[in-house]
Order: sequence, then C-alpha cells, then structure tokens
Amino acid sequence: MVYESIPRTVRIILLGEPGVGKTSLILSLVTEEFAEHVPPKAEEITIPADVTPEQVPTNIVDVCLNEQTIEQVAEEIEKAHVICIVFSVDKQETLNKIASYWLPFVRDSCSDDYRKPVILVGNKIDLIDYSVIDNIWDIAEEYPEVDRCIECSAKTLTNVSEMFYNAQKAVLHPIHPIYCIEEQE
Ligand code: GTP
Repeated sequence: MVYESIPRTVRIILLGEPGVGKTSLILSLVTEEFAEHVPPKAEEITIPADVTPEQVPTNIVDVCLNEQTIEQVAEEIEKAHVICIVFSVDKQETLNKIASYWLPFVRDSCSDDYRKPVILVGNKIDLIDYSVIDNIWDIAEEYPEVDRCIECSAKTLTNVSEMFYNAQKAVLHPIHPIYCIEEQE
C-alpha cells in the first residue's frame, strides 16, 4: 500500500449507514457530553493543533446521505486523509454494509495507487455487553487499508477521543498491521 507524504493537517471523514451515530460522535467529542437530539449533519469542525495529542490541526467532516448526493460524499472522501467507517454494534446489517458497500465505495473514490487508511468504528457499545471485534477480522484481511477497529460509545463518551486520536495517528504514523483497541473505561 502506498501512503501519501505526511500532511500538515489531518482531515477526518465519518462515513456509515444512517443512524449509526456519526454526528453524535463528533458532537460528543467537541462538547464532552451526549446530546439526545443532534442535527442530521454536523458542520465541519476544526480542532486547533494545541488541543490535539499530535499537535496537528484536525478537520472533522460529517456525512449525511439524506442531505448529500453520493457524488458529494465521494468528493469529500477524496479530500480526506483518513476515513472512519462507523457501524452500530447492535445492528449487524450496519457492519455488513462496511464490506458490501462502504469499503468498495471508498476504494472507488480514491486513486488506484494510494489507499487512505480506514478506521472501523463500532459505536453504541453501551447497548451491548459483548465485543463485536471478532466479526471484523475477515474484513480487515480483505481490506489491508483497515488500520484498526475501535469500539466506542458517543453516549457514555467511552473511547470517543481515542477514536479520533487513532484516526490522526493512522495519518501521521501509518502502520500496516491491524490493531484493535478494546474498550477502555
Ligand atoms: P445520519 O445523520 O442519519 O447519517 O445518522 P448518524 O450516523 O449521524 O447518527 P446520529 O448521530 O444522528 O444518531 C442516531 C441515533 O443514535 C440518535 O438517536 C442518537 O441519540 C443515537 N446514538 C448515537 N450514538 C449513540 C450511542 O453511543 N449509544 C446510544 N445508545 N445511542 C446513540
């Protein structure tokens, strides 16, 4: 896999099926609390360098299929450095769509010789009492651009900042092997 040279800003995009919690994750990160009601799509957010662990300004881009055309989403993927594909751990179909739809779509939206790192994000772990990490190994094997999988909860704030930090790291310190971050209380 060929990586681009290390950028001076990190642009993170969140993709995934409707209702998996993309907007909630962004707003939980920024406000450090969970809002029951969120807009369909968060405005683009810029986190200044001095409050990011890697000291790099970071833009976070939300996607909402009800408000954007698929062509607009593809353009946003092209502009991003790292792609977070979110699924809901309590809805198997949202995980199934990662391999059947989202990863091929990301590949189609990027140039052939450069694969952007992808983070798989299992949101809503507050709703289940088991891990779904074992279900992603086949996906990770088929798609080496998958950098890691993180389980988190926008509601309890579990692993939310870790998720964005790991997205930053995937750009700034690219690695090939797959790492999994289990829940951190
Ligand atoms: P679209 O805008 O349709 O693409 O959805 P989205 O992926 O941005 O999801 P959104 O943030 O709007 O959340 C969808 C629903 O899931 C809302 O009712 C949220 O309150 C809920 N939700 C989001 N994150 C969590 C979570 O971690 N745990 C629980 N229990 N609910 C969550």
